[in-house]
Order: sequence, then C-alpha cells, then structure tokens
Amino acid sequence: MKAVDVVIMAAGKGTRMHSSMPKVLQHLGDKALVQHVIDTAKALQARTTVVITGHGAEQVEAALAGQPGLQFVRQMPQLGTGHALQQAAPVLPDDGVTVVLSGDVPLTQADTLQALMDATQGERLALLTLEMDDPTGYGRIVRQADGSVQAIVEHRDASDEQRRIREIYSGIMAVPTRLLLPWLKRLRNDNAQQEYYLTDVVKLAVTDGQSVVAQVLTDPVQVAGVNTPVQLAELERAYQQRRAHALMLQGVRLRDPARFDVRGELTCERDVEIDVNCLFQGRVHLGEGVRIGAHCVLSNVTIAAGAVLQPFTCIEGGTEGVTVGPRAAIGPFARLRPGAQLGADVHVGNFVEIKNSTLADGAKANHLAYLGDATVGERVNYGAGSITANYDGAHKHRTVIEADVHVGSSCVLVAPVTLGAGGTIAGGSTISKNTEPGALTVARGKQVSIPNWKRPTKQKP
Ligand code: UD1
Ligand code: CA
Repeated sequence: MKAVDVVIMAAGKGTRMHSSMPKVLQHLGDKALVQHVIDTAKALQARTTVVITGHGAEQVEAALAGQPGLQFVRQMPQLGTGHALQQAAPVLPDDGVTVVLSGDVPLTQADTLQALMDATQGERLALLTLEMDDPTGYGRIVRQADGSVQAIVEHRDASDEQRRIREIYSGIMAVPTRLLLPWLKRLRNDNAQQEYYLTDVVKLAVTDGQSVVAQVLTDPVQVAGVNTPVQLAELERAYQQRRAHALMLQGVRLRDPARFDVRGELTCERDVEIDVNCLFQGRVHLGEGVRIGAHCVLSNVTIAAGAVLQPFTCIEGGTEGVTVGPRAAIGPFARLRPGAQLGADVHVGNFVEIKNSTLADGAKANHLAYLGDATVGERVNYGAGSITANYDGAHKHRTVIEADVHVGSSCVLVAPVTLGAGGTIAGGSTISKNTEPGALTVARGKQVSIPNWKRPTKQKP
C-alpha cells in the first residue's frame, strides 16, 4: 500500500458566515471545523497533512500550530481549487496517494476515505460522489454510455442537459501523486469563473488513458460543507446525533438524543440515564447507574457509581477537575467549581456553591451555602445560609471542619479557622477562633428582651 498524504484546502473566505473569524476556525462540538478534518487525516494515518491557507492565514496557522506532521502552504491570491493544489505540489512526495479534503467539510469518516484510497489501487484517480435531489451549484459527474467517468463539469459551465445530472462531485478525491503533479501543470482557467479547477484533472486523466473510478456515497452529512451559520448549526446537530447514537449503542439511556450535547469526551459505565438538555464539556466520566437530571451542565468531572444529579446542576471542573463520590445526591441548582472533591453519600442541595474543597463521606450542605477552600470531615452537617469567609482581600485561607461537626444556619466561618470534631456551632455565629471538639460554640449578640416595650407613636400637630 502507498503512503497517504492529505491536502486540506482552507484558503477560501467564507463570506456568508458574516464573521471576522476565518470560517474553518468556527467551532463544531469542541473544536474548529478544520481540526475535525485534521483529526480525520490522523485517523487515516496520513504521512503528511498540508493545510492550504489564504484568507486569515495568520489566524488559521496560529490556531493550528504545533501539531506533528502538519504543514502550511499559503495560496495568495486564491485562483481556484486547482491553483490551491498547485501551491501544495512542491511539498507532496510523488510516491504516495494524495487525498484532497476541505477545511469546511468536518464530518467525513476515516473509513469512507480509506475505501476511496483502496479504490485507487495505488494507480487510479478515485472521486467521491453523491446523488442529490437538488444538485444546483455542484460539479456534475459526466459518464459515458458504458458508465465510465468522463469529466466533472462545474455548474456554471454545464449545459442544460448536464445540469440535469444528479450525481455530483463531493469535493473529495484520492489521486496517485505521481499522476497528479503533471496534471496540475496542465490546468487552464478558460472557464466561466476564470479559475483553475482541480476537477479538470478528470478530463486530463481520460485524455491520458488513465482510469477514473467514482465511489458513490449515500450519507450526505459526510461531505456537507459549512458556508452559513445555518449549515454550521445543521452539522452541529448531525454531529451530536452521531455521538448520541454511539453512546446509546453502548447502553447509555438518553431521554431525547435530539436534546443532548457533548463538546469533548463523555465516557459512561453501565445503566447511566441522562435526561433532556444536558451539556457535557471537556472530560466527563459517569460511573455505573449515574442519573443526570434535566438541564445539567457538566465539565471536567468524574462522577462515581450511583450518584444522582438533580436538574440544573452546574459543574465546572476547570483544570483541577471535580470528583463526585458514589451515591452522592447533588442539586437541584447546585454549583461545583474547580477542586470540589465530594466523598461517598455526600448531599449538596439547592443554591450551594463549593470551590476547592473536600467533603468527606456523608457530609451534607443542603441549602443556600458557600464552601470555599474548606476541608470538611465525615458526616458534617453544614447549615443553610452558612459561608466560609475564605478571602481577606489579598489571600485565600483554609477552613477545617472536623468530623461530625454541626454548623447551624447563617454562620460565617472566618478563615483560617478549625472547628473541632463533634462540635456544634450555634446558628448566626461568626467564628473567627478555633473551636473545641465536642463543645457548643455561640458567637453572636446575646438575646435580650425589654418587657412592655412601647413603640413610638406619631404626635398630632
Ligand atoms: C468545488 C468543486 C465542485 C464540487 C464542490 C463540492 C471545483 C472547481 N469544484 O466547488 O465540483 O461539487 O466543490 O463542494 O473544485 N479553496 C481554496 N482556494 C481556492 C478556492 C477554493 O483553498 O482558490 C477551498 C475553499 O476554501 C473550500 C474548498 O476549496 O474549502 C472548495 O471551494 P469551494 O469554492 O467551496 O468549491 P466550489 O468551487 O464551489
Ligand atoms: Ca463554492
């Protein structure tokens, strides 16, 4: 088998995106359109991958820099797809097969391209084609009576009869580089758009007596390009659907695969259930039997077996990540931030925010609370409305709450401070000194009552 060299055309302007970002850098899932294409080239084990840049070249090259095996070639000005390939010619070794892809066609599968590679048998030109109900705008595949491919005729150059052909060129071809290089030199721009058409290599192959094969694809999503925000959204949905189906085939139960989004990597053990409108970002792992309620947003988190997230839980693991222990009960409306590490059977209720804190097994913070930079022992009960005052305006300080402490409602724990094991903190206390284990600590104004108190009344003038 010959080596594969991939050329990704990405010099076009993308006018219809109406964006100052180059089109190929727009995101699908968690990565740029062109990155999807680069990753497909990787899956194909391409020897070299050449990205042809033009419009927004600096931005595109900067965004993709530092990837092994990736080269950039600039095309200035842009005189057509054939002209684009001419710029890449000097860096293409002539002993391989060149696969031509576009930076704005993100969902081609590696096995489709492998089949196209195989169709070349190392020595033939192979085109990926598609039957379309409305082929307007595309290059048409013109075949001879015996079915052999004769030419690709661009829509604007096609006769009325040719425009009735429904088989179109997808924009993807595989071609032995030894044949491609001399054909590129022979391209002319005597056509309706005065461009150098890469598609003219078909005519040259036929002239030279080389055989041309067409591989007909049935899945249009794999060759669909992005020209507008509408098409970008359509492909986003197709991509999400593909990911949802892959997860369901592994046993994950999605209430509605049409209302499910992954931007990153989601891995699941057995019997995971995910309700509608959830978003998974970065790396998320869900253990056996985990249930995710509706409208949760989870990023960079590992959730252990049997944990249940109620609706509207937001987990932002950041670079440190978040871990949720087995059988934990989180939400609704809970917020876990970077460095939150929750043990087994932990409960975190509504409007509770936890950042850079460890909660040992069985700890509970059920309502309206903040735990930042805290180490919370086993079975601690952290009352409604209580907060750690962890920041003095310059530095962050740690709060240690030892095992079995009961923190009442509306307490302020002024860090650094340690609450001794088994102690009780009376509601409304502001705790700025360490507390004794087992003791009740009250740190608030004493309640006084003045009997028969008369409220002031308004005097008549
Ligand atoms: C091209 C094909 C057409 C096919 C269609 C599929 C040619 C002449 N025509 O059409 O047969 O049906 O794709 O979508 O090849 N690009 C450059 N430099 C250029 C011109 C284009 O890098 O000078 C890039 C674009 O950014 C894009 C890709 O090449 O990623 C295809 O260009 P586009 O203008 O969309 O293709 P068409 O010429 O319309
Ligand atoms: Ca076009």
